[in-house]
Amino acid sequence: MSRATRFIDACKGKPVDCTPVWLMRQAGRYQASYQAVRAKVSFFELCSSPDLAAQVTVAAVEEMGVDAAIIFSDILVPLLAMGAQIEMTHGGPKLEPLRDRAAVDKLKVVEPAEAVPYVMDAIRETNRRLDGVVPLIGFAGAPLTLASYLVEGGGSKSFPHLKGMLFADPDSAHQLLDKLTTVVTRHLRAQIEAGAHAVQVFDSWASILAPHDYRAIALPYLKRIFSELSDLDVPKIMFAQGTTVLLDELLEIGADVLSVDWCADLAAVRARVPELPLQGNLDPTYLFMDEAELGKRIAYVLERAGARDGKAAPKHIFNLGHGILPPTKTDRVRFLVDTVHRLTGEEA
Ligand code: CP3
Repeated sequence: MSRATRFIDACKGKPVDCTPVWLMRQAGRYQASYQAVRAKVSFFELCSSPDLAAQVTVAAVEEMGVDAAIIFSDILVPLLAMGAQIEMTHGGPKLEPLRDRAAVDKLKVVEPAEAVPYVMDAIRETNRRLDGVVPLIGFAGAPLTLASYLVEGGGSKSFPHLKGMLFADPDSAHQLLDKLTTVVTRHLRAQIEAGAHAVQVFDSWASILAPHDYRAIALPYLKRIFSELSDLDVPKIMFAQGTTVLLDELLEIGADVLSVDWCADLAAVRARVPELPLQGNLDPTYLFMDEAELGKRIAYVLERAGARDGKAAPKHIFNLGHGILPPTKTDRVRFLVDTVHRLTGEEA
């Protein structure tokens, strides 16, 4: 049994005793323990308290039995330090929209270790409490996804303002992406220096761009982030929603692990990249199924990843294809984690 090592080993392409599993958004509203904390503090108060952030990070590991922790924070946290006005409402984040060059110019290119030191403190405190039981993942949003929240002022269906800026005022858009890239790179470095054992970049809205636009607009910034961190010997994971359409572009970023969304077929991605560690990719809504059906879908993902004869597929980290949704039942999540371990060789 090696919960302490199997996630990092799989990220490095080394053999594992069974398939490691963790889940995007594994700490959140589907847990009663999280809701109890959130009943007392606002979302950003929770993010800025190293004690509470460590508490909910560790609770997700203890309650679900996953093989990695992900630090409790949000991709929007560094934007607060850059000067963005953000409120977390029941309907998601609401931001003061940033629509012109003057607004872009006002954004501060901060050093997150100084501007949001509480994230690094939370990482140190979480590692202290985890005591090596599982590794800890740090993260940041990709510049395009962060720009979408800033320019749209929140979530969006068709991203008219962001795409309007990208295509009608590219100078301002690139100024914005450049500033975000600098802060994201510094933020990831600071998290690794504080003790994160791996990092993941989330490009949740990658698929709003056609492949040629993603290549021209988003890819150079992502390449810059990963190449500037290449001196740091921890696995760097890239997640983008849109793996099927953007696979060529995503493979050029230089990530150590590609996290695959639930629309893609893991076997098809594996055929393209025999050596690259892959993470994913169960549809998060399958967690609404009963155990018998969910079990079949878990087995299907493992099979598409290459698991055979009750043994783990090499270079595969089980995860969802996107984050856990709030109505999910905690017993289904525990069932998922146990099933992945049981079907891939964990000794009882
Ligand atoms: O457990 C973990 O995965 C770590 C914590 C984490 C959160 N957000 C906590 C959170 C992580 C890794 C994120 C990433 C994040 N945040 C992404 C990328 C992943 C994805 O889902 O695409 C994005 C796009 C955001 C921005 C964001 N934060 C949105 C759109 C929302 C509202 C939607 C929602 O799920 O509520 C948030 C809020 C948020 N971030 C919550 C949590 C637990 C819920 C807020 C609450 O407690 O009220």
